[in-house]
Amino acid sequence: MSRLATSLCGIPLRNPVLAASGTFAYGVEFESVTDLGAIGGIIVKGLSREPMDGNAAPRLWEAEGGMINSIGLQNIGVRAFVRDKLPALARYATPVFANVFGYAVEDYVEVARVLEDAEGLAGYELNVSCPNTKHGGIYFSSDPASLAELVRAVRSVARRPLMVKLSPNVALIEPLARAAEEAGADAISLVNTFISLAIDARRRRPRIGAGFGGLSGPAIKPIALRLVYQASQAVKIPVVGLGGIATGEDAAEFLIAGAEAVQAGTANFWDPSSTVRIARELNRFLAREGLANVRDIVGTLKW
Ligand code: FUM
Repeated sequence: MSRLATSLCGIPLRNPVLAASGTFAYGVEFESVTDLGAIGGIIVKGLSREPMDGNAAPRLWEAEGGMINSIGLQNIGVRAFVRDKLPALARYATPVFANVFGYAVEDYVEVARVLEDAEGLAGYELNVSCPNTKHGGIYFSSDPASLAELVRAVRSVARRPLMVKLSPNVALIEPLARAAEEAGADAISLVNTFISLAIDARRRRPRIGAGFGGLSGPAIKPIALRLVYQASQAVKIPVVGLGGIATGEDAAEFLIAGAEAVQAGTANFWDPSSTVRIARELNRFLAREGLANVRDIVGTLKW
Protein backbone atom coordinates (compact mmCIF):
# COMPACT_ATOMS: atom_id res chain seq x y z
CA MET A 1 0.00 0.00 0.00
CA SER A 2 2.96 2.32 -0.61
CA ARG A 3 0.77 4.57 -2.77
CA LEU A 4 -0.88 5.61 0.51
CA ALA A 5 2.36 6.75 2.15
CA THR A 6 2.24 10.47 2.83
CA SER A 7 3.10 13.00 5.50
CA LEU A 8 1.35 15.59 7.61
CA CYS A 9 3.26 18.60 8.97
CA GLY A 10 6.48 16.68 8.36
CA ILE A 11 5.23 13.57 10.20
CA PRO A 12 5.48 10.47 7.97
CA LEU A 13 2.16 8.58 7.76
CA ARG A 14 1.87 5.04 6.35
CA ASN A 15 -1.55 6.10 5.11
CA PRO A 16 -3.68 9.24 5.45
CA VAL A 17 -6.52 7.70 7.51
CA LEU A 18 -6.33 8.66 11.19
CA ALA A 19 -8.60 7.54 14.03
CA ALA A 20 -10.60 10.58 15.22
CA SER A 21 -10.47 11.81 18.79
CA GLY A 22 -13.31 10.75 21.04
CA THR A 23 -14.06 7.65 18.97
CA PHE A 24 -10.94 5.61 19.68
CA ALA A 25 -10.44 5.99 23.46
CA TYR A 26 -6.69 6.23 24.21
CA GLY A 27 -5.89 3.84 21.33
CA VAL A 28 -4.60 0.97 23.47
CA GLU A 29 -8.16 -0.19 24.25
CA PHE A 30 -8.49 -1.10 20.54
CA GLU A 31 -5.42 -3.34 20.29
CA SER A 32 -7.41 -6.57 20.55
CA VAL A 33 -9.88 -5.56 17.79
CA THR A 34 -7.70 -3.90 15.17
CA ASP A 35 -4.08 -3.63 14.08
CA LEU A 36 -2.80 -0.43 15.70
CA GLY A 37 0.37 -0.85 13.66
CA ALA A 38 -1.58 -0.47 10.40
CA ILE A 39 -3.44 2.76 11.22
CA GLY A 40 -2.28 6.03 9.66
CA GLY A 41 -2.35 7.79 13.02
CA ILE A 42 -4.24 7.84 16.30
CA ILE A 43 -5.76 10.96 17.85
CA VAL A 44 -6.54 10.11 21.44
CA LYS A 45 -9.50 11.27 23.51
CA GLY A 46 -9.56 14.93 24.57
CA LEU A 47 -7.24 15.50 27.54
CA SER A 48 -7.78 18.08 30.21
CA ARG A 49 -5.62 19.37 33.07
CA GLU A 50 -7.60 17.42 35.65
CA PRO A 51 -9.75 14.28 35.17
CA MET A 52 -13.31 15.02 34.01
CA ASP A 53 -16.42 12.93 34.81
CA GLY A 54 -18.37 13.98 31.74
CA ASN A 55 -22.08 14.65 31.30
CA ALA A 56 -25.22 13.02 32.65
CA ALA A 57 -26.45 9.86 30.87
CA PRO A 58 -27.78 9.08 28.32
CA ARG A 59 -24.77 10.31 26.39
CA LEU A 60 -25.37 8.68 22.99
CA TRP A 61 -28.34 8.50 20.66
CA GLU A 62 -28.43 6.80 17.28
CA ALA A 63 -30.04 9.28 14.90
CA GLU A 64 -31.09 8.74 11.27
CA GLY A 65 -27.81 8.28 9.40
CA GLY A 66 -25.68 9.32 12.32
CA MET A 67 -25.10 9.57 16.04
CA ILE A 68 -25.60 12.26 18.65
CA ASN A 69 -23.17 12.35 21.55
CA SER A 70 -22.74 14.42 24.63
CA ILE A 71 -19.93 12.73 26.53
CA GLY A 72 -18.76 15.98 28.05
CA LEU A 73 -15.10 15.16 27.53
CA GLN A 74 -14.89 12.52 30.22
CA ASN A 75 -11.20 11.72 30.49
CA ILE A 76 -8.54 10.55 32.92
CA GLY A 77 -6.59 13.81 32.81
CA VAL A 78 -3.35 14.55 31.01
CA ARG A 79 -0.98 13.27 33.71
CA ALA A 80 -2.66 9.86 33.98
CA PHE A 81 -2.63 9.61 30.18
CA VAL A 82 1.11 10.21 30.06
CA ARG A 83 1.74 7.77 32.90
CA ASP A 84 -0.72 4.94 32.12
CA LYS A 85 -1.57 4.99 28.41
CA LEU A 86 1.18 6.61 26.36
CA PRO A 87 3.92 4.02 27.10
CA ALA A 88 1.73 1.21 25.69
CA LEU A 89 1.12 3.19 22.48
CA ALA A 90 4.86 3.53 21.95
CA ARG A 91 4.98 -0.19 21.04
CA TYR A 92 3.46 0.70 17.66
CA ALA A 93 5.23 2.73 15.01
CA THR A 94 2.04 4.75 14.56
CA PRO A 95 1.99 8.52 15.05
CA VAL A 96 -0.01 9.50 18.12
CA PHE A 97 -1.61 12.93 18.45
CA ALA A 98 -2.90 14.18 21.79
CA ASN A 99 -6.20 16.05 21.65
CA VAL A 100 -5.88 19.00 24.04
CA PHE A 101 -8.87 20.53 25.83
CA GLY A 102 -9.42 23.26 28.41
CA TYR A 103 -11.97 25.67 29.83
CA ALA A 104 -9.63 28.63 29.59
CA VAL A 105 -6.42 29.52 27.72
CA GLU A 106 -4.30 28.66 30.80
CA ASP A 107 -5.79 25.14 30.92
CA TYR A 108 -4.86 24.40 27.32
CA VAL A 109 -1.36 25.77 27.90
CA GLU A 110 -0.90 23.63 31.02
CA VAL A 111 -2.02 20.46 29.19
CA ALA A 112 0.40 21.24 26.36
CA ARG A 113 3.23 21.86 28.86
CA VAL A 114 2.69 18.45 30.49
CA LEU A 115 2.63 16.75 27.07
CA GLU A 116 5.79 18.55 25.96
CA ASP A 117 7.70 16.66 28.66
CA ALA A 118 6.34 13.29 27.48
CA GLU A 119 7.99 10.93 25.00
CA GLY A 120 6.08 9.21 22.21
CA LEU A 121 3.81 11.87 20.74
CA ALA A 122 3.89 13.04 17.13
CA GLY A 123 1.79 16.17 17.62
CA TYR A 124 -1.26 17.84 19.09
CA GLU A 125 -4.83 18.48 18.07
CA LEU A 126 -6.27 21.50 19.84
CA ASN A 127 -9.93 20.86 20.60
CA VAL A 128 -11.65 24.21 20.19
CA SER A 129 -14.89 22.70 18.96
CA CYS A 130 -16.48 20.42 21.54
CA PRO A 131 -20.13 21.50 21.72
CA ASN A 132 -20.81 19.61 24.94
CA THR A 133 -19.28 21.64 27.76
CA LYS A 134 -20.52 24.88 29.29
CA HIS A 135 -17.13 26.63 29.03
CA GLY A 136 -14.16 26.41 26.73
CA GLY A 137 -14.19 24.25 23.63
CA ILE A 138 -16.55 25.62 21.04
CA TYR A 139 -16.44 29.15 22.46
CA PHE A 140 -12.90 29.52 21.13
CA SER A 141 -13.81 28.49 17.62
CA SER A 142 -16.78 30.82 17.39
CA ASP A 143 -14.67 33.96 17.32
CA PRO A 144 -11.47 34.46 15.26
CA ALA A 145 -9.86 36.78 17.85
CA SER A 146 -10.38 34.34 20.77
CA LEU A 147 -9.20 31.47 18.62
CA ALA A 148 -6.04 33.34 17.61
CA GLU A 149 -5.27 34.21 21.25
CA LEU A 150 -5.58 30.55 22.26
CA VAL A 151 -3.55 29.18 19.35
CA ARG A 152 -0.79 31.75 19.97
CA ALA A 153 -0.61 30.83 23.66
CA VAL A 154 -0.37 27.08 23.00
CA ARG A 155 2.03 27.65 20.11
CA SER A 156 4.39 29.43 22.49
CA VAL A 157 4.84 26.23 24.54
CA ALA A 158 4.31 23.51 21.92
CA ARG A 159 7.31 22.44 19.89
CA ARG A 160 5.50 19.58 18.18
CA PRO A 161 3.15 20.12 15.21
CA LEU A 162 -0.10 21.76 16.24
CA MET A 163 -3.38 20.97 14.47
CA VAL A 164 -6.50 22.95 15.39
CA LYS A 165 -9.87 21.17 15.24
CA LEU A 166 -12.57 23.56 14.09
CA SER A 167 -16.28 23.63 14.74
CA PRO A 168 -18.81 23.49 11.91
CA ASN A 169 -21.28 25.52 13.98
CA VAL A 170 -20.31 28.83 12.43
CA ALA A 171 -21.68 31.01 9.64
CA LEU A 172 -18.32 31.30 7.85
CA ILE A 173 -15.42 28.88 8.24
CA GLU A 174 -12.80 30.94 6.35
CA PRO A 175 -12.11 33.61 9.04
CA LEU A 176 -11.58 30.86 11.64
CA ALA A 177 -9.33 28.79 9.41
CA ARG A 178 -7.24 31.90 8.66
CA ALA A 179 -7.12 32.95 12.32
CA ALA A 180 -5.71 29.53 13.27
CA GLU A 181 -3.14 29.69 10.47
CA GLU A 182 -2.02 33.24 11.25
CA ALA A 183 -1.67 32.42 14.97
CA GLY A 184 0.76 29.59 14.22
CA ALA A 185 -1.23 26.40 13.63
CA ASP A 186 0.56 23.83 11.47
CA ALA A 187 -2.70 22.26 10.27
CA ILE A 188 -6.44 22.48 10.81
CA SER A 189 -8.86 19.59 11.13
CA LEU A 190 -12.58 19.85 10.51
CA VAL A 191 -15.36 19.20 11.19
CA ASN A 192 -16.29 18.42 14.75
CA THR A 193 -19.97 17.67 15.41
CA PHE A 194 -23.08 19.74 14.66
CA ILE A 195 -25.06 20.92 17.69
CA SER A 196 -28.31 19.01 17.62
CA LEU A 197 -31.37 17.96 19.58
CA ALA A 198 -33.13 14.57 19.62
CA ILE A 199 -36.55 14.53 21.27
CA ASP A 200 -38.47 11.65 22.80
CA ALA A 201 -41.98 12.69 21.74
CA ARG A 202 -43.78 10.50 24.27
CA ARG A 203 -41.84 11.85 27.23
CA ARG A 204 -41.42 15.31 25.63
CA ARG A 205 -37.85 15.30 26.78
CA PRO A 206 -34.44 15.43 25.10
CA ARG A 207 -33.04 11.97 24.46
CA ILE A 208 -29.60 13.11 25.65
CA GLY A 209 -29.07 13.72 29.36
CA ALA A 210 -27.37 17.07 28.82
CA GLY A 211 -30.08 18.23 26.38
CA PHE A 212 -28.17 19.09 23.21
CA GLY A 213 -25.51 16.86 21.68
CA GLY A 214 -23.19 16.76 18.69
CA LEU A 215 -24.35 15.06 15.47
CA SER A 216 -21.76 13.04 13.54
CA GLY A 217 -21.75 10.21 11.00
CA PRO A 218 -22.82 9.81 7.35
CA ALA A 219 -25.66 12.34 7.73
CA ILE A 220 -23.19 15.23 8.03
CA LYS A 221 -20.81 14.22 5.22
CA PRO A 222 -22.05 16.61 2.50
CA ILE A 223 -21.85 19.61 4.86
CA ALA A 224 -18.43 18.54 6.11
CA LEU A 225 -17.19 18.24 2.51
CA ARG A 226 -18.37 21.77 1.77
CA LEU A 227 -16.60 23.15 4.85
CA VAL A 228 -13.38 21.23 4.13
CA TYR A 229 -13.39 22.57 0.57
CA GLN A 230 -13.95 26.17 1.74
CA ALA A 231 -11.30 25.94 4.47
CA SER A 232 -8.72 24.42 2.14
CA GLN A 233 -9.26 27.29 -0.30
CA ALA A 234 -8.70 29.80 2.52
CA VAL A 235 -5.39 28.55 4.00
CA LYS A 236 -1.99 27.24 2.92
CA ILE A 237 -1.46 24.88 5.88
CA PRO A 238 -2.69 21.28 5.52
CA VAL A 239 -6.36 20.53 6.13
CA VAL A 240 -7.42 17.24 7.70
CA GLY A 241 -10.99 16.31 6.81
CA LEU A 242 -13.58 14.43 8.83
CA GLY A 243 -17.32 14.10 9.07
CA GLY A 244 -19.08 10.87 8.21
CA ILE A 245 -16.19 9.02 6.56
CA ALA A 246 -17.03 5.30 6.51
CA THR A 247 -15.55 3.97 3.25
CA GLY A 248 -12.45 4.41 1.12
CA GLU A 249 -14.47 6.36 -1.40
CA ASP A 250 -15.70 8.73 1.33
CA ALA A 251 -12.04 9.34 2.22
CA ALA A 252 -11.24 10.00 -1.44
CA GLU A 253 -14.03 12.62 -1.58
CA PHE A 254 -12.46 14.56 1.30
CA LEU A 255 -9.02 14.39 -0.34
CA ILE A 256 -10.51 15.63 -3.62
CA ALA A 257 -12.12 18.50 -1.67
CA GLY A 258 -8.64 19.55 -0.51
CA ALA A 259 -7.83 17.54 2.63
CA GLU A 260 -4.30 16.10 2.87
CA ALA A 261 -5.38 13.47 5.39
CA VAL A 262 -8.67 12.32 6.88
CA GLN A 263 -10.08 11.04 10.16
CA ALA A 264 -12.62 8.27 10.66
CA GLY A 265 -14.76 8.76 13.76
CA THR A 266 -18.33 7.54 14.11
CA ALA A 267 -17.57 4.51 11.89
CA ASN A 268 -15.40 3.17 14.74
CA PHE A 269 -18.59 2.64 16.74
CA TRP A 270 -19.95 0.01 14.33
CA ASP A 271 -16.62 -1.22 12.92
CA PRO A 272 -13.69 -0.78 15.33
CA SER A 273 -11.25 -1.61 12.53
CA SER A 274 -12.75 0.96 10.17
CA THR A 275 -9.58 3.09 9.89
CA VAL A 276 -7.58 0.12 8.57
CA ARG A 277 -10.43 -0.97 6.27
CA ILE A 278 -10.96 2.56 4.92
CA ALA A 279 -7.23 2.82 4.08
CA ARG A 280 -7.39 -0.54 2.26
CA GLU A 281 -10.45 0.59 0.29
CA LEU A 282 -8.81 3.94 -0.49
CA ASN A 283 -5.78 2.08 -1.85
CA ARG A 284 -8.03 0.06 -4.16
CA PHE A 285 -9.86 3.21 -5.27
CA LEU A 286 -6.58 4.96 -6.16
CA ALA A 287 -5.36 1.88 -8.04
CA ARG A 288 -8.57 1.82 -10.09
CA GLU A 289 -8.09 5.52 -10.84
CA GLY A 290 -4.53 4.81 -12.03
CA LEU A 291 -2.96 7.01 -9.32
CA ALA A 292 0.50 6.10 -8.03
CA ASN A 293 0.38 8.29 -4.92
CA VAL A 294 -2.42 9.49 -2.69
CA ARG A 295 -1.10 13.05 -2.93
CA ASP A 296 -2.09 13.07 -6.60
CA ILE A 297 -5.77 13.18 -5.72
CA VAL A 298 -5.61 16.01 -3.15
CA GLY A 299 -7.49 19.16 -4.19
CA THR A 300 -8.49 17.81 -7.61
CA LEU A 301 -12.14 18.81 -7.48
CA LYS A 302 -13.36 19.97 -10.92
CA TRP A 303 -16.29 22.36 -11.20
O1 FUM B 1 -18.77 15.41 24.53
C1 FUM B 1 -17.64 15.18 24.09
O2 FUM B 1 -16.76 14.64 24.79
C2 FUM B 1 -17.33 15.63 22.73
C3 FUM B 1 -16.17 16.12 22.40
C4 FUM B 1 -15.94 16.72 21.09
O3 FUM B 1 -16.85 16.74 20.26
O4 FUM B 1 -14.86 17.24 20.85
